[in-house]
Amino acid sequence: MDCTLIENLSLSYISSFALRCAVDLDISGRIQAYGRPIPLNELARSIPTPPEKDLMLGRLMTLLVHQGVFGQSQDGWNRLSEVFKDTGNCTLFEKLHDGKKAWEIVKEIPEYGNTFNEAMASQSNSITRGLVARCSNIFDGLNSLVDVGGGTGTTVKIIDEAIPGLKCTLFDLPHVVKSVLKSDSPSM
Ligand SMILES: C[S@@+](CC[C@H](N)C(=O)[O-])C[C@H]1O[C@@H](n2cnc3c(N)ncnc32)[C@H](O)[C@@H]1O
Repeated sequence: MDCTLIENLSLSYISSFALRCAVDLDISGRIQAYGRPIPLNELARSIPTPPEKDLMLGRLMTLLVHQGVFGQSQDGWNRLSEVFKDTGNCTLFEKLHDGKKAWEIVKEIPEYGNTFNEAMASQSNSITRGLVARCSNIFDGLNSLVDVGGGTGTTVKIIDEAIPGLKCTLFDLPHVVKSVLKSDSPSM
């Protein structure tokens, strides 16, 4: 017996509820009124739903796209030319997120923040371990090191352990540093 088939059949009721939810929220009408592919945050603001529910709305839309109820354009990349035409320094990310910077979004939605920090830490982990194992001489003669924008401190922790006598400092936004201090990180 195909387990995936059984699982899909037993959870198929979710599709009906997702469709019902889309009808209740008039998602189709909102997309039509927008006149072109609507970014998720603008769809959310048109309902309107509070920003902390954007992630949930995104999941609902992903499911509905997967079922073929709605189509998905290239995640806002189709608006890249606006960045060049507009005056001002707004990036594409900021355009797609009500003018907010990535760091503000990450702060507002802790679930994004945690995922982002974990992704950064994972990348830093492999790079920094390779660095201290093969190129530790680059730290010769240094007494101190500051990792500016060092996230949750993966890089400084690895360097601190590998290079005795080097004073390592982590510098990041207050809410990121606070999360590190709150976590179980005796070496920080
Ligand atoms: C690409 S991430 C770097 C992640 C880090 N290397 C790691 O291993 O996790 C950039 C970092 O810069 C921080 N950042 C952004 N603006 C900052 C600012 N004005 N001052 C200090 N840190 C900032 C962010 O919070 C984020 O953790």
